[in-house]
Amino acid sequence: MNPIIVVVGARPNFMKMAPLYQDLKKRKLPVLFLHTGQHYDKNMSKVFFDELEMPEPDIYLGVGSGSHAEQTAKIMIDFEKVCVKEKPSMVIVAGDVNSTIACALVASKLWIPVAHVEAGLRSFDRQMPEEINRILTDQISDLLLTPSVDANENLAKEGIPDEKVKFVGNIMIDTLLNNAGKAKKSVIHKKLKVEKGNYALLTLHRPSNVDEKEVLSGIVNALEYICKDISIVFPAHPRTTNKLKEFGLYDRITKISNFVLTEPKGYLDFLALMKEAKIVLTDSGGLQEETTALGIPCLTLRENTERPITVEQGTNTIIGNREENIKIEYRKVIDNKSREQKIPDLWDGNTAKRIGDIVEAKIA
Ligand code: UD1
Repeated sequence: MNPIIVVVGARPNFMKMAPLYQDLKKRKLPVLFLHTGQHYDKNMSKVFFDELEMPEPDIYLGVGSGSHAEQTAKIMIDFEKVCVKEKPSMVIVAGDVNSTIACALVASKLWIPVAHVEAGLRSFDRQMPEEINRILTDQISDLLLTPSVDANENLAKEGIPDEKVKFVGNIMIDTLLNNAGKAKKSVIHKKLKVEKGNYALLTLHRPSNVDEKEVLSGIVNALEYICKDISIVFPAHPRTTNKLKEFGLYDRITKISNFVLTEPKGYLDFLALMKEAKIVLTDSGGLQEETTALGIPCLTLRENTERPITVEQGTNTIIGNREENIKIEYRKVIDNKSREQKIPDLWDGNTAKRIGDIVEAKIA
């Protein structure tokens, strides 16, 4: 039987593919595990492989950073060679990063079936590179595996035939539940000298928040305000660290008392930080979902979300990136205006198995 190629490239892919890779292996299906190398720093990549018990990739493309065109094109050129050599029975991609669209496009032109994990999410904001990646990947995929019912509705509106779409639930929650026990052993709070339950956790890396000096410095003002109240733990993405330095904000941020600036964390330490946070401020996609699963209030510093179910049913609030708004919304959470919340359907830890059943039937 020809192999199934499971593709990862950037940090948010690893937690989506780990449980699926393990499920397919358990079924004794032939799997080739491919890493494009879009993310390459140890703490953006390797640490996740170790902690999530993923093997060394069978194939590593090592494409690294570059403009969107450079990065996407490099992946395509190398991945085409892999597909021609290995003749995979299926290529499975996840999420919305450049590696996702690059590999889906190559495979579909070689008539290799493409499965997309986390299909159908839409922010309706085409200024986000991820939105372009999502729309295009879904258009050329043969199997669209959705995390929530809103995704099925989006795909129906775009004319994707029903029989290609399967509602399987949120695979990141499989990883979260599988690792919750291990994360309890983390000593990260001690290491960073923060008190459990009494800090805010921050992540920030979107171009819309970090690429313009004015926007980023407004956010820093809001962080200064929050730090008068509680500590902020900020594992900074390399892109953000570079921008803070470029804009002369780095020194200022390191001088804020109660502000804990640290390097990106591995999965287990980060999960431990999330579980014990009073509040999470983020522009990430995955964190909006993980905080909903954990019941931790989340403020999303974006104008929109491709994950509306986290707002409708979960703990998420979309607040944009203006200084005043961040302060006001932070206050609301801290003053404990709690609201009703539930865990969305099929965010139950069994998504990898549901996908495995579908993939196995498809390639049989
Ligand atoms: C990518 C994804 C984004 C995801 C994010 C999570 C796309 C279009 N975007 O954005 O959806 O939320 O990953 O992290 O694919 N860099 C390093 N070391 C690394 C990786 C990156 O130093 O290991 C630096 C480089 O300077 C690089 C910059 O970060 O130029 C941006 O990396 P890139 O992969 O292009 O996009 P992200 O911003 O990480």
